[in-house]
Amino acid sequence: MSLIHGLSVLVVAAMATGSVASHNYGDALTKSIMFYEGQRSGKLPPTQRITWRKDSALRDGFEIGVDLVGGYYDAGDNVKFTFPMAFSMTMLAWSVLEFGQSMGSSELQRSLDAIQWGTDYLLKATSIPGFVFAQVGDPYGDHNCWERPEDMDTPRTPYAVSKQFPGSEVSAEIAAALAASSMVFRPTNRGYSARLLKRARMVFEFADKYRGSYNDSLGPWVCPFYCDFSGYQDELIWGAAWLLRATKAPFYWNYVLANIKNLDNSSSFSEFGWDTKHAGINVLASRLIKGQTPYVPEPFITNADKFVCSVLPESPTVSVSYSPGGLLIKPGGSNLQRATALSFLLLVYSRSMSRDNRVIRCGNVVANPARLVQVARSQVDYILGSNPMKMSYMVGYGDKFPQKIHHRGSSLPSVSQHSQRIDCVSGGTYFSSNNPNPNLLTGAVVGGPDIKDSYADSRADFAHSEPTTYINAPFVGLLAYFKSH
Ligand SMILES: *[C@@H]1O[C@H](CO)[C@@H](O)[C@H](O)[C@H]1NC(C)=O
Ligand SMILES: *[C@@H]1O[C@H](CO)[C@@H](O)[C@H](O)[C@H]1NC(C)=O
Repeated sequence: MSLIHGLSVLVVAAMATGSVASHNYGDALTKSIMFYEGQRSGKLPPTQRITWRKDSALRDGFEIGVDLVGGYYDAGDNVKFTFPMAFSMTMLAWSVLEFGQSMGSSELQRSLDAIQWGTDYLLKATSIPGFVFAQVGDPYGDHNCWERPEDMDTPRTPYAVSKQFPGSEVSAEIAAALAASSMVFRPTNRGYSARLLKRARMVFEFADKYRGSYNDSLGPWVCPFYCDFSGYQDELIWGAAWLLRATKAPFYWNYVLANIKNLDNSSSFSEFGWDTKHAGINVLASRLIKGQTPYVPEPFITNADKFVCSVLPESPTVSVSYSPGGLLIKPGGSNLQRATALSFLLLVYSRSMSRDNRVIRCGNVVANPARLVQVARSQVDYILGSNPMKMSYMVGYGDKFPQKIHHRGSSLPSVSQHSQRIDCVSGGTYFSSNNPNPNLLTGAVVGGPDIKDSYADSRADFAHSEPTTYINAPFVGLLAYFKSH
């Protein structure tokens, strides 16, 4: 009995090692970028590879005389939420800035295309001075229906923030996305890059001058979907930090220094995602501080180090949990957004540490840059299939992956298979069906397993089975790095 048990442990260990070595990061990278084609709203180009998707929402904004066609659906529904969309573009741009050289030229070009699909829309959403479109689509009408984007007949209401009804978080996140993207396009498309940067400065000024949370003006529509819980101070500093990196203008450094004092750093130093930017600010700023006048390394370095100590499993101050199989877990739905975003920061910060020839001390635990990379890699490998379920959480990658993702387009037959309209209510049959989704949303990373490493693969269980644009965005950078390291 014990011998057999011992043997099976050995076999499992060997299999785990085997599967670690066999991950095809290049394949996963290609797919992680392709996912964005499945989320496209608007008129699809001839180069579209996810061909079961067709044109949709071609009149967004027309009812008020503004062109708001394009952009991305955030997840498994058909609403365009600008706040998480902009954050996803910031992170895709950061992925390219940091790891674009490891992608290979065709994936680099595909990443640029994915970013431009988003930034073209962000330019439209900010084309009228004094207004920022924060959302298109009545979220209740949309969420109550199970409809393909191509069939949508729910109200495509545009929602904007303005001087009178400000939204500094959504506006400053757009500024961050445009500033970061302007650097991405600088080598290949100077004109577009300059346009993005000019708009970034304008939108940032608007966000800063008319301060307030979009909760207060658009609360009934943005909440509870993308409610701003952590306030807008973090986005203002984050936006300024990206503008500093893009422009090198002392104004933005002074802005960061003047405002960082207002940021609650009591516990938020360990947070990073579409709502809370704190750890991202510290990791980004810690590489921008050199050469700034005045030279002020704190609180950025201390708080970035504290962030690392809150993530490393062996750290005495670890504040995240790990599943028995090794997945990083934080409270809230769509957990893999945290595994990818925090791993991305670890990887970026490990490079700063290497450049500075530095280690981090978490109590009496010493962490060197290689340890941060190792933890980031363990999360990537877990997501790709090195886990107790032996399943990949990326659709279309590996032999076993989620079949019933919470995604309207993926779960309903394609217009090319079923050209008749499927209305709001009739779609419910497909939602509750036990069959796998008919359309592969290649590259989509879902919310992921629970704290015990199990995954129900249920369409209704959206907290675990829904993909989002902001789970994939940092994953693109991680995969690019591991593809060539
Ligand atoms: C936004 O609304 C949510 C839910 O009502 C609330 O918890 C949060 O504190 C609000 N955020 C801001 C910045 O007012
Ligand atoms: C928060 O940051 C300020 C400086 O901006 C610093 O004085 C303070 O000690 C920090 N608090 C914590 C808990 O890190």
